[in-house]
Amino acid sequence: MSVKRYLDQRYMNKQEEIRQLKQEKDAVLLAHYYVDEEVQKIADYVGDSFYLSKIASSLNNRTLVFCGVSFMGESGKLLSPEKTVLMPDASADCPMAHMVSKAEIDEARSKYDDLAVVCYINSTAEVKTWADVCVTSANAVKIVRNLPNKNILFIPDKNLGRYVKQQVPEKNVMLVKGYCPIHEFIKPEEIKALKQKYPKALVLAHPECNAQVLEMADYIGSTSGILSKAKESDANAFIIATEVGVRYELQVQNPDKQFYFPETLPVCTDMKKITLDKIIEVLKTGENAADVVKAHVEPAKATLTRMLELAK
Ligand code: 13P
Ligand code: SF4
Repeated sequence: MSVKRYLDQRYMNKQEEIRQLKQEKDAVLLAHYYVDEEVQKIADYVGDSFYLSKIASSLNNRTLVFCGVSFMGESGKLLSPEKTVLMPDASADCPMAHMVSKAEIDEARSKYDDLAVVCYINSTAEVKTWADVCVTSANAVKIVRNLPNKNILFIPDKNLGRYVKQQVPEKNVMLVKGYCPIHEFIKPEEIKALKQKYPKALVLAHPECNAQVLEMADYIGSTSGILSKAKESDANAFIIATEVGVRYELQVQNPDKQFYFPETLPVCTDMKKITLDKIIEVLKTGENAADVVKAHVEPAKATLTRMLELAK
């Protein structure tokens, strides 16, 4: 048997094992666009953070397997406390989720009576308890614009926060210093070089990118937004400033279009920790169930349900 045939067979066997385990455990697989292609291929639902949080709260299955990082599993558990939420790798975490302190929030609250603390969903459950409402990159501008408050503290992502501030100039949006290490370090000179090489290509960027990259963008949006833009656009070539996992779905939806990523590939090593073997393992053992400290459940959940309401 050729090596390729052997690997294809092994992949099919794992797919089959996952299918059977899902049935046995009444489980569904939810995956973010940044996980490996082979995981996206077998997932029941693939999407951006907003889509995944919405879908998690609407499913009837007993078990959700969250193929992503820990804040996604925590959000799933907060919105569906009666379900078992399994994380294929318990160490897959988003570094940005921790990049803000309670002291920063207390200081802002002491200065502004009408302050709204707006928290990116890429945050721990504890960080969410300090906030008034959650947002994702797909709805942050809309939610901040529609809040009655004039003074907004946006946590923890300074890049998404700065983008929101530009889009909603009528508000006083204050920022902290958190960032996504993958998007923050996409090099503007590499995007510039791609623009020179492919002058007709449109630059589609995630708002977690640094300011210099966003200044070069023709479109700024969440991973789902980038996918929609690529599909509906008449252009045939695109420079993509986000994590490379999105390439799989871009190519599935647009087999005749070209997608160029920065030479230093943006790879989220935490998202890439999710493998088929780990999915099989948690489905078999029930290990790595997401859990939230009891005191955090109600206040953290309130920020997510408020987001789901305000995003309608
Ligand atoms: P979206 O899923 O909102 O596009 O955010 C990207 C991200 O960094 C998730 O970790
Ligand atoms: Fe966090 Fe960035 Fe990875 Fe998303 S891509 S999980 S924001 S480190």
